Amino acid sequence: MRYAFVGLGHRAQMYVDALLGEWSDTGEIAALCDPNRTRLRYYLDRIGREVPCFAPEGFGAVLDLADAVVVTTVDAAHARYVVAALDAGKDVVVEKPLCTTAEDCAAVAEAAERGPGRLVVTFNYRYSPRNSAVRRLVAEGAIGEVTSVHFCWALDTVHGADYFRRWHRDRANSGGLLVHKSTHHFDLVNWWIADAAASVYAQTSLRFYGAANARARGLADRPVRARGAPGLGTDPFLLDLSADPRLKRLYLDAEQEDGYLRDQDVFGEGVTIDDNMAVLVRYERGALLTYSLNAHAPAEGYRAVLNGTAGRLELDVVERAWTPPHAAIDPTASGKEHAAGASERLVLHRHWREPEEIVIGNGAGAHGGGDALLLDDVFRGPSQDPLARQAGYRAGVASVMIGVSAGLSAATGAPVALTADGTRRAN
Ligand SMILES: NC(=O)c1ccc[n+]([C@@H]2O[C@H](COP(=O)([O-])OP(=O)(O)OC[C@H]3O[C@@H](n4cnc5c(N)ncnc54)[C@H](O)[C@@H]3O)[C@@H](O)[C@H]2O)c1
Repeated sequence: MRYAFVGLGHRAQMYVDALLGEWSDTGEIAALCDPNRTRLRYYLDRIGREVPCFAPEGFGAVLDLADAVVVTTVDAAHARYVVAALDAGKDVVVEKPLCTTAEDCAAVAEAAERGPGRLVVTFNYRYSPRNSAVRRLVAEGAIGEVTSVHFCWALDTVHGADYFRRWHRDRANSGGLLVHKSTHHFDLVNWWIADAAASVYAQTSLRFYGAANARARGLADRPVRARGAPGLGTDPFLLDLSADPRLKRLYLDAEQEDGYLRDQDVFGEGVTIDDNMAVLVRYERGALLTYSLNAHAPAEGYRAVLNGTAGRLELDVVERAWTPPHAAIDPTASGKEHAAGASERLVLHRHWREPEEIVIGNGAGAHGGGDALLLDDVFRGPSQDPLARQAGYRAGVASVMIGVSAGLSAATGAPVALTADGTRRAN
């Protein structure tokens, strides 16, 4: 299989490294496409041989060289590459979120329906053993019919803040965190309870990041970006790209080409996304979801509670118990599960019985072994997975449309109805 890559930033590396390493027998890297030649050079050095490189305008030539395309560009650019690749009969592997708007969801779904190509959305959270365990228990009927889900996610001031430094901070690029980030979470709920959203209501706010909040808290006159700023190294919100060789090569050395600034001040102008979100969803079979996302927490983790007619599942996860008062952590680095104070606990409560703590079988490697399982599904194809972890375009559309609808609801103050296939109702 010949793979082409479009979008050669941070995330592409997991897939490139897989094809250079453990999954090298499954295919080869045939072409790279990105507007930034410095980042392309980073990847050519990593690959260790010359591979044809193209700017976005040359994507037609990229398709001529490939059987499958891996899409890891900024979110808002996913749809155009996915549709072009599917229309050329290619397979597609696309990072979450599948896309960022209702119109793009419709375009991707139509292309996926009419073309022979296979589309995989890499929802890596499904492969995390603790999340897989929830799916297995619900599917086995451990809590009966699911009646409601409570899902509360906290991003800390390392990971959460990072969305306010770069392209994600502009809603036009990311769809806001209800799309960019919550697509993971809405997909988990859709998959756990095997149901589709029927209506969505949301409220959102920007209370911590951005220039107006900084002014209100007396943080005015901060530097526009970290580079050379007074306080760099001691201010926990300033990211020093020059301190990390990988961040320096991928972003600092590359910025003169396209003006992509990776280290903008999280308290600067230009933030158009929210940092607090509350969402209510009613599912087709009647289950209710209460969901919240906070992006400025002192610790990172989540709590998911599923209530059913026969019992209740409680999953409590601490991914990082606290963030130290300096900005030395690479926000893109994985391996949070090894951070100080990290823990996970899954408990099954059933009527009239003592609670049972479920053993979560973690494997080797990142995310409890989940990344290796995901890459195996991507490059070798899914085996007879009883949990059906590999996601196609329908799951991608379903979770994006909850986020898009939540954004619309927050803007209008009214609930938004969805059809069973995840698209929005006409009225
Ligand atoms: N599943 C996960 O846990 C996870 C983690 C990180 C990122 N991601 C996803 O991966 C994708 C990339 O994120 P990232 O962190 O690597 O971002 P990044 O900014 O590091 O890289 C994005 C790359 O896309 C390129 N690009 C920008 N506009 C483009 C266009 N029009 N055409 C082609 N290329 C373009 C940029 O030059 C850059 O090289 C996003 O969709 C993100 O949601 C997923």
